[in-house]
Amino acid sequence: MKDSCNRTIDYIRISVTDRCNLRCLYCMPEEGIAPLRHEDILTYQEIVRICEASARLGIRKVKVTGGEPLVRKDIEVLIKELAQIPGIEDVTMTTNGCLLKEKAAELKAAGLSSVNVSLDTLDPQRFARITRRDSFDSVMEGIKSAQAAGLKVKINCAVMEDLTKEEVLAFARFSMERKIPVRFIEMMPIGQGKNYKAMENDDLAGILSEAFGALKESRKVKGNGPAVYYTWGDETGFIGFISAVSHKFCRTCNRVRLTSDGFLKLCLDSPAGVDIKGPLREGISDDGLFDLMNQTIRNKPESHHFEEDQGETGPNMNQIGG
Ligand code: GTP
Ligand code: 5AD
Ligand code: SF4
Repeated sequence: MKDSCNRTIDYIRISVTDRCNLRCLYCMPEEGIAPLRHEDILTYQEIVRICEASARLGIRKVKVTGGEPLVRKDIEVLIKELAQIPGIEDVTMTTNGCLLKEKAAELKAAGLSSVNVSLDTLDPQRFARITRRDSFDSVMEGIKSAQAAGLKVKINCAVMEDLTKEEVLAFARFSMERKIPVRFIEMMPIGQGKNYKAMENDDLAGILSEAFGALKESRKVKGNGPAVYYTWGDETGFIGFISAVSHKFCRTCNRVRLTSDGFLKLCLDSPAGVDIKGPLREGISDDGLFDLMNQTIRNKPESHHFEEDQGETGPNMNQIGG
C-alpha cells in the first residue's frame, strides 16, 4: 500500500517481546526495564491476525524482533504460521544470537529465511563490557549454527564512539573469511542510545578504503532495509552501512512497526500510531482491522526528528524492536 507521502509500505517489523538476555549499554539500563505483563503481550494468534490483515494491505516482508525474539517460548511456531500467510514472501529475524545454536535448525525448518545477528565487537572483553553479559562464545557458536542450518546471516554492528580502526578491519576480515556481510549502524539517539555519539559511517568507509583500496557499491547482498553495501578486491567481503544519523532515509521508508503490546507504530521516534490490541480483544472484524490499519498507515509521518533533542529519554529500543 501507499502512504500519504506516496511511499510503498511493504515491510512490518514485529517485536514479539520486550525481554532480553543481554543488557547492551545503548539499549537498556543495567538493572533492566520492568518487563510488560504476560497478559499485555500479544498472543501468537493475535500477531498472526494482524499479519493477515497486513498481507491484505500489501505487506510482503516480516521482520521478527524483540527485545530478544528467541527468549519468547516456541518462537518457531509463530515463524511457521507467519511464513504460511498468503502474500507474505519473506520472514526474517534480528537477534542477539545467544540462543541461535539451539534454535537455528528449527527456525530454518519453520520457514525463516535469514537472521541479522547483533555483534558490536569481535573482542570478548569488549563484548562483555557493552552487553554486560559474558555470552560472546554463545553468539559465535550461534552464528556458525545459523550458517550450517542454511539461514542467510548478516551482522549488525551498532557503532559506539570507540570502535577502533583495528576493530573495523577485523570486521572486514571476518566478513571475508566467513562470507558474512557486516553492517555498521550509526547509533541513533533513541532511549539509552542518546548517551552515545557514534562515528559517522563515512569515516569507517575511509578506514576500509585505505586498507583495501576503493570500495565498490554492491547489490549482491539481499536485505529489505536501508543498508547500502560495499565490497572490494575479489568481492569476498561485504560491508553494509546503515547511516541512520548522517543520512536520512525517510523518503524511501517502506516500514511500520508493531510493539509487543500491540501498538502499530509508524516511525522510530514518533508516538504516532494506533493501539491494535484493544480493538482485537474487543472483537473487531477482519474488515474493521483492515480499515483501522489502512487509515493509520496512510498517515505515517514524513520523517523522524533525531536532530531535535526531545529532552526525555523516551522508549528504549527493546520496546520498539530497532
Ligand atoms: P534487512 O532485511 O536484513 O535489510 O534488515 P533491516 O536492516 O531492515 O533490519 P535490522 O533489524 O537488522 O535493523 C538494522 C538497523 O536498522 C537497526 O539499528 C534498526 O534500528 C535500523 N532501522 C531499521 N528500520 C529503520 C528505520 O525505519 N529508520 C531508521 N532510521 N533506522 C532503521
Ligand atoms: N541506534 C542504532 N541501532 C540500535 N540498535 C539498538 N539500539 C540502537 C540505537 N540506539 C540495534 C541493535 C540491533 C538492531 C535491532 O538495532 O544493535 O542490531
Ligand atoms: Fe538486547 Fe538488543 Fe537491547 Fe542488546 S540491543 S539489550 S541484544 S534488545
